Amino acid sequence: MLGKIGLIGTGNIGAVLIQEIARRGLARTVAAVDVKEPDVAMGKALDVAEGLPIIGSDVEVIGSRSFDALAGADLIISTAGVPRSKRPDGTIPTREELLTVNLAITESVANAVMEYCPDAIFINVANPLDAIVYTLYKKMNPAKNKLMGMAGQLDSSRYRYFVARAAGVSVENVDAQVLGGHGDTMVPIRSACRIAGLPVTNFISEETLGEIETRTRKAGGEVVGLLGTGSAFVSPAWAGLEMAEAIAFDKKKIIPTCALLEGEFGASGLFVGVPALLGKDGVEKIITFDLTDEEQAAFAHSVSAVQKTVDEVNEMSK
Ligand code: NAI
Ligand code: 2OP
Repeated sequence: MLGKIGLIGTGNIGAVLIQEIARRGLARTVAAVDVKEPDVAMGKALDVAEGLPIIGSDVEVIGSRSFDALAGADLIISTAGVPRSKRPDGTIPTREELLTVNLAITESVANAVMEYCPDAIFINVANPLDAIVYTLYKKMNPAKNKLMGMAGQLDSSRYRYFVARAAGVSVENVDAQVLGGHGDTMVPIRSACRIAGLPVTNFISEETLGEIETRTRKAGGEVVGLLGTGSAFVSPAWAGLEMAEAIAFDKKKIIPTCALLEGEFGASGLFVGVPALLGKDGVEKIITFDLTDEEQAAFAHSVSAVQKTVDEVNEMSK
């Protein structure tokens, strides 16, 4: 159990995070901050706090409009950022189109963390994921193990779900990883997808797998299209919580994580989704393995898409 988890942003994802941190007992205190008036963070925290006797949790739940509530946090999870919504013409924007507005928000998030909890481990969720994590790194200059992004665990969960349904097996039987950037170029790693330890191709045809992988790449947009306003929020929160749990309980769990690459999988100087061992020190190790030639090429393509958004970040910060 951690001493304190700080949440930045108490919108759709943040609200699930507050209640689940209290229910799972990940920290003695959860402090949630949001700038939204009149005091949405306090309102959401009070709502959860008043239900604590029902779920039998003694976690202290605090909400505030003021960033000083984050003081002393061991772990920060930030969802502060605008989500995607369907346009009036029915099209779905890319995550990258959120860049300009979410960069401004990221600036205030970085300043708050540097002021109130500079030593905290930081999981970012806001989009465009990989570029926002890069921006945080440039602004905050933390130790590389202390900063990461959540996306790969969500994308992998979507892949695992679709595979389980197609194979007619329990979701618990499916192990899979989606790596690369959190955009339409993400890379479902078919060669590492296993059902009860066996290659997925023993259960599902190549053609169906191809369809599943296409759906996985577009799964975030599929939910945006159905919701109309906003994007998926329960499964992203659960994915972030799995990372938080691995850190809080020093689980040494290997989870697809957006982490700083220094040559792994042929990429350097960027935050991109790779398998990472998460424990009390954050990203304790990046796990490398051989991709097929096709997967390696797809990963390189995804890295170049992340680089393109990062170039925009660098251009905007001149
Ligand atoms: P939301 O709009 O429901 O919540 C965002 C909250 O951030 C709002 O309550 C807003 O007031 C707050 N906020 C804005 N500026 C702030 C600031 N400077 N300080 C503190 N709070 C601030 O959005 P939702 O659905 O919770 O999504 C949050 C972000 O997560 C979006 O950028 C979305 O695209 C991203 N996302 C990422 C996923 C991933 O896999 N990495 C999955 C799903 C969403
Ligand atoms: C998702 O994948 C929009 O990034 C968000 O659901």
